[in-house]
Amino acid sequence: MLTRKEFLLGVLSCSAAALAPAVHAQTNDKTLVVYYSWSGNTRQLANAIAKELDTYIYEIEVKKPYPDQYSETLDLVREQMRKGQLPEIVEDGPDFSEFSTILLGSPIWCGHASRPVMAFLEKYDLSGKVILPFATHGGGGISQYVDDIRTKYPQADIRSSFSSRGTSYRTEAIRQWHRENKLL
Ligand SMILES: Cc1cc2nc3c(=O)[nH]c(=O)nc-3n(C[C@H](O)[C@H](O)[C@H](O)COP(=O)(O)O)c2cc1C
Repeated sequence: MLTRKEFLLGVLSCSAAALAPAVHAQTNDKTLVVYYSWSGNTRQLANAIAKELDTYIYEIEVKKPYPDQYSETLDLVREQMRKGQLPEIVEDGPDFSEFSTILLGSPIWCGHASRPVMAFLEKYDLSGKVILPFATHGGGGISQYVDDIRTKYPQADIRSSFSSRGTSYRTEAIRQWHRENKLL
């Protein structure tokens, strides 16, 4: 049985630095980085993405955290997906309606957005916003994540996505993505 930390350090070659807490950073106009992370990879990528922009960053948290064990989390996630269940998320975020552009990050879970990000999509109205999806995965790629967002928000302006296997992203690739989307 793998603990969350073992999973992070070993199985998917993730970095210990990924456990650093989220930075609730400087403000700017109307761009926000929002993400969920179970074992730290997406948090690390989100911080790297936000660092290049002068923007807020917000971490989605679940009221009842997922288990530390990978296999238990996987079982629970599969069950939630089968039953169409979403976890309750903490409602301590900013007023999302104030932001016109949201960079939305998730780990890939079973080929899809993580359940907490699905819960976020369900709870807040993102229609009419510019959305830039980003994700970390274990080798399967971004899979259905962008389609999950598009299915929920057919009216949103969904721009190009960014993904990395674990934390194997390059800062220059993040900058390029920002430039492509005219954020830099
Ligand atoms: C429940 C669960 C399901 C996963 N499913 C996939 C998957 O379908 N494809 C994939 O490439 N990686 C999968 N992974 C690996 C994670 O996407 C990957 O380790 C990611 O970087 C973890 O991000 P985090 O540290 O922010 O939680 C899964 C991990 C978990 C915990």
